[in-house]
Amino acid sequence: MKVLITGGAGYIGSHCSRFFNEKGIETLILDDLSEGHKEAVQGSFIQGNVGDGNLLDQIFRSHAIEAVIHFAAFTSVGESVKNPSKYFQNNVTNMLTLLNAAVDHHIRYAVFSSSAAVFGEPCTIPISETHPKDPINPYGETKLIGEMMLRDYERAYGLHSCSFRYFNAAGDAGDALIGESHSPETHLIPIVIQAAMGKRPPMKVFGNDYDTRDGSCIRDYVHVEDLAEAHYLGLSYIMEKQCTDSFNLGSETGFTVLEIIKTFEELSGLKVPFEIVGRRAGDPAVLVAGNEKAEKLLHWVPRKSDLKTILTDAWHWEQKRKF
Ligand code: UFG
Repeated sequence: MKVLITGGAGYIGSHCSRFFNEKGIETLILDDLSEGHKEAVQGSFIQGNVGDGNLLDQIFRSHAIEAVIHFAAFTSVGESVKNPSKYFQNNVTNMLTLLNAAVDHHIRYAVFSSSAAVFGEPCTIPISETHPKDPINPYGETKLIGEMMLRDYERAYGLHSCSFRYFNAAGDAGDALIGESHSPETHLIPIVIQAAMGKRPPMKVFGNDYDTRDGSCIRDYVHVEDLAEAHYLGLSYIMEKQCTDSFNLGSETGFTVLEIIKTFEELSGLKVPFEIVGRRAGDPAVLVAGNEKAEKLLHWVPRKSDLKTILTDAWHWEQKRKF
């Protein structure tokens, strides 16, 4: 079996491609390298944009693709607020081009990289799949539109799909051959580690006046290799059941920003230099996933998403990274 992985040179896409290869599934990566890294590619590779309909036609004509795993998207919440046009163009219009090409070439399965951002400010914690979808930024809106397109494309064209709403993807491949590399980096865990290693100035903790146990924000960190496995299980599920569904993926455990800092200090013996600053716009106080549905239907159990494993793998990557 061969799958097309858009955005497969990126953080989650590269780990997913590697997992599929380990399961004996061939992967063809389509990535324009605007954010991804050639060194991260696991599988065969075509450099190009997912909004290029002619290129997609060529790919589907010349490769026996059975499913599309769609990661290619912009992912920065703050940037999406400042430049929504960029987000709607790439995350919605280009995705539409991809789905149309897939349907034209009789592809029957798609797996979509969605986000906890589709829920917006949570009304209940943990967040289950039935929680209202009310995104509070363009990034979350584009991901919700993606899910809606997929729902409608199943009804109209029989494209079965699985959407995954990741909570905070974190950690890196256990052997540190691939890992998280954003430029600029905005995610908490690499920033904590880089600050501790002296690779960047003291980090900023965005707010200590939230209604949480120590005043800093609570997030649910889920290991990228657990996410990779979920994509495999999700694809198997929609192929077996011939259905379309969406799932939340987290660890069901929340940690505050200050707890992440403290745990990394204990684990590494390093000091994390930080200062407390004001809140970052658009940050909900608490986001924690309920995983019941993924556990029940996909038999997905996050095996590596305990905080120590995530931080150890992220630290290891930060010490060895080649890109
Ligand atoms: N944080 C800091 N200092 C930093 C960076 C982050 O205090 O330098 C805090 C944030 O305020 C937040 C927590 O650490 O409370 C986690 O922040 P991240 O930027 O690592 O992740 P987010 O929770 O903001 O975003 C993640 C994904 C998004 C997705 C969102 C869903 O990265 O793609 O979850 O709500 F949209």
